[in-house]
Parts: sequence; structure tokens; C-alpha cells
Amino acid sequence: MVVRELTGGIYFGKPRGFGTNDKGEETGFNTEIYSVAEIDRIARVAFEVARKRGGKLCSVDKANVLEASMLWRKRVTAIASEFPDVELSHMYVDNAAMQLVRNPKQFDTIVTNNIFGDILSDEASMITGSIGMLPSASVGESGPGLFEPIHGSAPDIAGQDKANPLATILSAAMLLKYGLGVESAAKRIEAAVTETLDNGFRTGDIHSPGTLHCSLLAHQSRVLRLFDK
Ligand SMILES: NC(=O)c1ccc[n+]([C@@H]2O[C@H](COP(=O)([O-])OP(=O)(O)OC[C@H]3O[C@@H](n4cnc5c(N)ncnc54)[C@H](O)[C@@H]3O)[C@@H](O)[C@H]2O)c1
Repeated sequence: MVVRELTGGIYFGKPRGFGTNDKGEETGFNTEIYSVAEIDRIARVAFEVARKRGGKLCSVDKANVLEASMLWRKRVTAIASEFPDVELSHMYVDNAAMQLVRNPKQFDTIVTNNIFGDILSDEASMITGSIGMLPSASVGESGPGLFEPIHGSAPDIAGQDKANPLATILSAAMLLKYGLGVESAAKRIEAAVTETLDNGFRTGDIHSPGTLHCSLLAHQSRVLRLFDK
């Protein structure tokens, strides 16, 4: 699980814009900035998520270079004292990008800033085989949340009945679990997805020899049939 800060950091920081340097060259610039309140908020969300999962939280930053990351690390470490049952570790983002490919199973929950989370969550999606496999939840302190697949509208395969529906279906599971607190129904959706995959059914993006190729609609109806059971 990647917990990504979504409303701060370099995508929103000021000053930002275009300028001219002292050599008269055009420049573009942005600001990576985080306040204690922003870091504490996302850290608590991440610790809560980790507590419900495997109890391990890895905070990803670039604290060897960036002041915003130094503050990030300091605050995440401070918040850890509120969650003694969660094991906290820290990792630099370049190493995390490599470790995700080398040994993804070492991670349980990752918490990171907006830009690192943007990149690492896309990288993580490929570990599952396809961007069509991963759901996401965008949650504020007091709802409502937004639950959607991490992928976009896939215009290059629109209308071809071959998109992978699992990320969208699993987004409904996240809605039930993290939005509505109905964990039992979420588990039924996840189990239906797992069983469909265990039965060998695959859309084209994750199809390999020995598995059963099926269309978006066929895949979707298989999962829903299992859920109805
Ligand atoms: N969260 C979001 O709302 C979100 C995220 C990414 C892109 N977008 C938007 O979606 C549109 C298309 O963007 P893009 O093409 O860069 O990204 P995309 O995620 O739509 O597609 C990227 C690649 O992944 C493939 N893909 C995506 N979903 C898939 C699925 N379910 N099954 C199989 N393959 C899948 C696509 O065919 C494409 O090759 C843009 O308008 C973009 O702004 C929205």
C-alpha cells in the first residue's frame, strides 16, 4: 500500500513560475514545501493503515539532500511514538525505487510525499503486472473520499473490450473498507477477484501462456458472479 500525500509539496508549493537567471537565461522553478501539520496528518493516516495491514511502515524521502524531507523524516519519527505497535523504517527515494523492483515483498505500507508517491505508485502498479490492477483512495480528514483505479481513461484501447476491470472493481472494495468501514463486504470483493485470477482468467494486459484470455466484460461478469455467491 502506498500512502501518498496529495495536496502539498512541489506540485502546489510557492514560489513557482518562470523567470530569468543572472546569465539572462529563461528558467522554470517550483518549491518543495511541507508544514509540520501536513506531514503529521499524512503520517497518522499511514500509521493507521499500516496498523490494519502488516504493521510495517516505510517512510520514503530524500532527507540526505532536501530540507523538506529532513522535516518529513523528523515528524514521521515523532509521530511513530503514538503507534508503538507499528515498525517504522526510512528509505531514500532512489533506493526505494530500486528496492520495489528488486524485492517488493519487503514492503507492507509506504508513506511518502506527493511527487515521490506519484512516481512510486505507478512503478508499484507494474509489480502487480499491469496498471489495470491497482485501486486507489483519495481521502481527506472528514470525507467524502474519492475511490478510483490509478489508471486514466486508457484512450488507446477505448471501445475494444480489453481493458482490465480489476482496478475499478477493487476501488469499490477500498470504498467499502476505507470509506464506509464495511470490511466484510470489501473482503468478499477481494476474494472474488483473487478467485477469478486463481481460476486462470486474465485480460490481455496480464495474459501469459497457460492462462485463459478473456475480454473486459467476461472478466467483470466472472468476478461479479463470484461476489454474488
Ligand atoms: N486518476 C486519474 O484521474 C487519471 C490518471 C491517469 C491519467 N488520467 C487521464 O486519463 C487520460 C489518459 O491518460 P494516459 O493515457 O496517460 O494514462 P492511462 O492510465 O489512461 O493509460 C496509460 C497506459 O495504460 C493502459 N491502461 C490504462 N488502464 C488500463 C486498464 N484498465 N487495462 C489495461 N490497460 C490499461 C493504457 O492502455 C495506456 O497504454 C488523460 O486524460 C489523463 O489526464 C487520469
